[in-house]
Amino acid sequence: MGNYHAKFSAFGSYAPAKILTNQDLEKMVDTSDEWIRTRTGMVERHIASAEEAASDLAYQAAVNAIEASKVKYKEIDAIIVATISGDHPFPSTACILQKRLGLKGIPAFDVSAGCTGFIYACDIARQYVENGAASHILVVGVEILTKITNWNDRNTCVLFGDASGAAVISKAEATDISRIIDSKIDADGSQGEFLIQVAGGSRLPASHETVDANQHTVHMEGNRIFKNAIKSMFASSDELLRRNHIGPSDIDWVIPHQANLRIIEALADKMKIPMSKVIVNIQKYGNTSSATIPLAIDEAIRTKKIRRGEILLLTSFGAGLTWGSILARY
Ligand code: ACO
Repeated sequence: MGNYHAKFSAFGSYAPAKILTNQDLEKMVDTSDEWIRTRTGMVERHIASAEEAASDLAYQAAVNAIEASKVKYKEIDAIIVATISGDHPFPSTACILQKRLGLKGIPAFDVSAGCTGFIYACDIARQYVENGAASHILVVGVEILTKITNWNDRNTCVLFGDASGAAVISKAEATDISRIIDSKIDADGSQGEFLIQVAGGSRLPASHETVDANQHTVHMEGNRIFKNAIKSMFASSDELLRRNHIGPSDIDWVIPHQANLRIIEALADKMKIPMSKVIVNIQKYGNTSSATIPLAIDEAIRTKKIRRGEILLLTSFGAGLTWGSILARY
């Protein structure tokens, strides 16, 4: 805990225009609308165009969040982008976004933590603000997983969509009721092979063979991840609640990572929180990885579900394996 408090000033989000429905997928692989709905809760997802890269989606969400925050562009002290599907292996997508926002001269870097990326990035931003090293940090979760998806693999291709979500994390004034109460991030690298893009890095550089073997796409052992997801999100959420003496009934909204409706329902059940307090938009967007949480919060703010002063619990898990949670009064 530093000298100051950090708060979420505002959120923004963006999803590409093109929509891919379960019916569209039925024509592409051996699947059915019924299987996808009952196993995942997904109905449709947004897909980036051939011209769109992660920084393009990130830019739209960033502008929306900055405009909503009323923070001036020149007051932003740093940019952190959570992504595993950036424009290039390097430079970072955060640097590309910095250029596009015209914010030369502030630090900009990416965070790789799979679907937990946004939670990781917010946890880092929180430390800078609480220590007084920054007053306003732009945090973006952006993913274009559909460009690293094997469209012949029904186990994975039905699950992902593209989107971006952003938050401005600011120093809270003494009079502010809004603040990030606590956050916790965690990882277990021994289970990394269950969710992996095998080739394209220094372990297995791109070659004709790796491309032919589809090793540049998402490989996932879904049911291994499934059990882990519920266990890890529950553990970190439970610890945050306990160490802040907050009970499940004090939570106004849970905003979980949107990977599977069954995971979300099992988590709510385990936490003894009714589904009426859980934000779900998986039916419209699928799993947009590090973008799911800021996208869901932004939508819920815009539809006046989430209001200032309410207690939010954000929780996620993903490749790494990683997981983490944030407790905040919005
Ligand atoms: N359509 C029809 N049948 C399918 C499909 C499909 N799209 N996909 C799989 N099946 C079949 C399988 O082949 C299998 O058939 P079999 O019994 O004949 O072998 C059957 O359905 C059951 O497969 P399971 O994998 O056991 O299905 P499960 O109920 O576990 O659901 C799912 C799969 C949806 C992937 C689930 O395991 C899940 O959501 N896991 C978590 C995924 C996740 O959260 N990933 C982490 C985030 S992603 C990130 O960090 C980038």
